[in-house]
Amino acid sequence: MSKLWGARFDKKSDPLADLFTFSISYDHRLARYDVIGSIAHARMLAKQRIIPQSDAARIIAGLKKILKQIKDGRFKFDPQAEDIHTDIQNRLKGLAGAAAEKLHTARSRNDQVVLDMKLYCRHEAAQLMASVKFLQKEILGFAGRNKDVIIPAYTHLQAAQVVLLAHHMLAYIEMLERDRTRLVDAAQRCDTMPLGSCALSGTSLKTDRAYLAKLLGFSRVAANSMDVVSDRDFIVEMIGACAMIATHLSRIAEDLILWASREFDLVDIDGGFCTGSSIMPHKKNPDVLELIRGSSSKVIGRLAEIHVLLKGLPLTYNRDLQLDKPALFESVDTAQFMLLVLSRVFATLKLKKENAAQRVLDESFFTVDAMDYLVKKGVSYRQAHDILGRMVRDCLDHGKPISSLSTDELIRYSPLLEGDVKKLFNPRMSVKIKSSSGSTNPGFVGRQLKTWGKKLHA
Ligand code: ARG
Repeated sequence: MSKLWGARFDKKSDPLADLFTFSISYDHRLARYDVIGSIAHARMLAKQRIIPQSDAARIIAGLKKILKQIKDGRFKFDPQAEDIHTDIQNRLKGLAGAAAEKLHTARSRNDQVVLDMKLYCRHEAAQLMASVKFLQKEILGFAGRNKDVIIPAYTHLQAAQVVLLAHHMLAYIEMLERDRTRLVDAAQRCDTMPLGSCALSGTSLKTDRAYLAKLLGFSRVAANSMDVVSDRDFIVEMIGACAMIATHLSRIAEDLILWASREFDLVDIDGGFCTGSSIMPHKKNPDVLELIRGSSSKVIGRLAEIHVLLKGLPLTYNRDLQLDKPALFESVDTAQFMLLVLSRVFATLKLKKENAAQRVLDESFFTVDAMDYLVKKGVSYRQAHDILGRMVRDCLDHGKPISSLSTDELIRYSPLLEGDVKKLFNPRMSVKIKSSSGSTNPGFVGRQLKTWGKKLHA
């Protein structure tokens, strides 16, 4: 198929060079944005009398036919075309005849491809935001179904203190909310209209960029033609937002993988999201979650790739930039897939409430509460730490629960330790006495659940 630049050369391009340089095998995904951009461009050209109204009408009618094919799924990209811009241009020739040759007036593929990519990012950012919200809802649902359950929480993967399961789930919801706002940000960075920059310096033809921005739903036009044809920051940010989602989902998956182990035994992952072993008949493996964790590496790798791709490029457009697409598409697709799969895992996840109830009876979870008890009686934090430290060590050495110490035994550690301290060695009490905002206090957590419920279901 004809290239958009063939006349300059006295010989055909080498088939191997074609194979190496063509981007159609992946940038065909930009087809609908390319057509939408071209329809607006043709309208603008006619309004400005750069091309005759009749030619614009023919071009637009042809482009609309192509758009319909794309929307109906009938569009088959031509593997012989160099890229999607060439493919659409060639097709239009068949539909609009000679008029088609006027479409590319006051435009270059350099500003055209940036437009396509920005339209794509804007659309995908909205899709990803919806998927993030969907996952937040499923997590909230899981929290709500297990509202009063208390679980152990860890630092250094050592049992630390007890929290409400809902508190732990609300932490995920906060992480995801930041991810959502990162997507809002990334989409905002796509909100400058590139067309009119042409190859790099602008055009001497009387285009109307503000009109184009209005037609295409951008709030402003890009201020510098050189910047806009070489800027791929918006792609870095979009992949960055995907990488952060992927990292978060990987951490959540890791929690669930641990909780599903026989050692933790806190959750039961639905059989539909597990696999068996070809040799060990007893195994129920959390492969789906492991692949969520594993998939994150693809997106994180793509983020490194796009930085490396850009860092050595002189202004303005360089063909290297074509390789921004596989990086972006894979990042977006992977993040989307991960979000949807993890949503299903949460929708079907079962908490092993009895096991959780057993686990949180371990009294070492409550030493900080006992320290606070002493601090409230005027003991310094340092001293309180020493007192509890000695108590825990003795109890561990003698295999004795702290709550079994008699008043006399307690007084040996500190005269301020009275019998009522033993009330604190209880998981329900431990969450109840937390009073700082943002803590695991049931009243506070309950309000958070309500607030998020309203926000997510609004
Ligand atoms: N396929 C190219 C890309 O994605 C389109 C722009 C080509 N521009 C050029 N001057 N060769 O970057």
